[in-house]
Parts: sequence; structure tokens; C-alpha cells
Amino acid sequence: MELIDGKKTSAQIKQELADEVQKIQAAGKKIPHLAAVLVGNDPASETYVAAKVRACREIGIKSTECRYSEEITEAQLLEVIGKLNADPDVDGYIVQLPLPAHISEQRILLAIDPAKDVDGFHPFNVGKMVTGLPAYLPATPAGIVELLKRYRIPTRGKHCVVIGRSNIVGTPVSILMSRKEEHADCTVTLCHSRTQNIKAYTLQADILIVAIGKPHFVTADMVKEGAVIIDVGIHRVPSDKTASGFRLVGDVDFEQVAPRCSYITPVPGGVGPMTIVSLLQNTLLAAQQKANP
Ligand code: GUN
Repeated sequence: MELIDGKKTSAQIKQELADEVQKIQAAGKKIPHLAAVLVGNDPASETYVAAKVRACREIGIKSTECRYSEEITEAQLLEVIGKLNADPDVDGYIVQLPLPAHISEQRILLAIDPAKDVDGFHPFNVGKMVTGLPAYLPATPAGIVELLKRYRIPTRGKHCVVIGRSNIVGTPVSILMSRKEEHADCTVTLCHSRTQNIKAYTLQADILIVAIGKPHFVTADMVKEGAVIIDVGIHRVPSDKTASGFRLVGDVDFEQVAPRCSYITPVPGGVGPMTIVSLLQNTLLAAQQKANP
């Protein structure tokens, strides 16, 4: 069994991106600029946005955190979106999800200028991805494909089973893994909370991507010997073995499952760090307008 080290891989990519930023700077061009909109005080969202801003600093690009209280109205947030769309200094921006219940995520995502939508969530960009046009790929799915590519894990003709059908991970990763490309080209099965006898599918998986959002959902009896396991979940669970009283676990029961695998991503330090570098990659694309030639 080999660990897929997302921390190490993301550090390598960040170095490559930092070199690219240096070249942009040396050429006297504008430094790429990512803005992040954060509404409310959700602790997980705060952590994610802080990590995104930190990563921008690490590679030398500009970032702006736009924070608003939970009470902001949808109309006010749409006004913020309008200003970011019109700001020529902002190359790309994200609106951290989830949003408070009184705001329609759909209306907000639709208002984002697709050329600045570095999360790749706008239906225009989703459509471009599905049809194989140059597009901002959604960060977590793109990070997963990049890990498989960098570890030279064969994917062509393999059976990839995805658990979870969210717009952020499950659905787009199932599309990316089925594309006619060297580091994809899989037969894909998309399972979700209503799938009956899910084990019958997971046992057939050469590559199992788990994004169901339930701690330790995948157990050893659900995994084929030699499978590649990609765990997207991250959960804080009580633990009497750590000083904090908590530990982070994924959607996969790592201790049980790891011995059966050829490759597996740990939690933390697997998919998570890759999500952030995908966002940085999209921001550089936005600055160079490569996804919108
Ligand atoms: N919430 C969970 N994942 C993401 C993400 O990749 N982007 C945004 N904007 N919000 C998220």
C-alpha cells in the first residue's frame, strides 16, 4: 500500500505556481488577484477561506477577504457580486459555501461573471467542463485528477466508483473521470445515499472516490483487494488519544481499509491540500484569461 501524499504534491505544485508568478512579476505584468467572499461565522468555512488566503500569500499572488455578517440580505450580497464582477483588479473570486438559508445559492452563483468564476460553479463553466472546452475545473475534482496523474496511477478502462452526487465533488468528478483523456477514460458508476446494496458496486471499484460526508462510511468489507481509494471526507470526531479531545477522520475507515489498497489518500493531508492548489491554478488561468480565449 502506498500513501497518496496530497500535502507533498500540493507543496510541489505551489512551488511551480510561485515560479510562474515570479515570471509574471518579472515581465512587469499585473499580479493575479483572488477575492474570497465569506458570509457568517461557520468555523469550517472560516478555516477554508483562511487556508486559501494563506496559499495565495505563499505563491505571491494578491488576495482579498470580503467578510459579511450572517444578516446580509441576498440583494446586498448581489450588490457585492456586481462590484467584484466590475472590479478590473480582481481576476477571480469565490463565494464560500454554504450560504445562510435566507440566501439562494443558485441566484448568487448565477450572478458571478463566468470569466471570474474560479470555483467553476457557474452553469456556463459546468457546461464547458462537460463538453470538454477549456474551463475552470471545480477545485476538488481537479485536485483528485491531478493526484492520480502525478502518482501515475493507471485509470484508462478502469472502473471508477464515486460515492456522493454533490455539485461540488461527486457529480463533477464522475464527469472528469469518464472523459476521453489519458488520466481519466474510466467506466464510471455514481452511487449516492439512495443506492441500494452499495457494497455490490464498491467491491467492483478499481478506483473508489468517496465524497458522501459520513465519517468512516467505507469499511474494509466494501473494498476490493488492490483498489485505489480517494477519500474526500473530513470530520472532527471525539478522541481520547489527542490533547485536543478531537481527531480528523475521513469518509473511509483508514486503519481498516488501508491494508487492502494499492493506494490511499490519508485524512488530513490527502485531497484537502489539493483543493486549494486547484483554486490557485484557476486564478492564474483567470489572470491570463486562458479559460476564456
Ligand atoms: N464549500 C465547500 N467546498 C467549497 C469550494 O470548493 N468552494 C466554495 N466556494 N465553497 C465550498
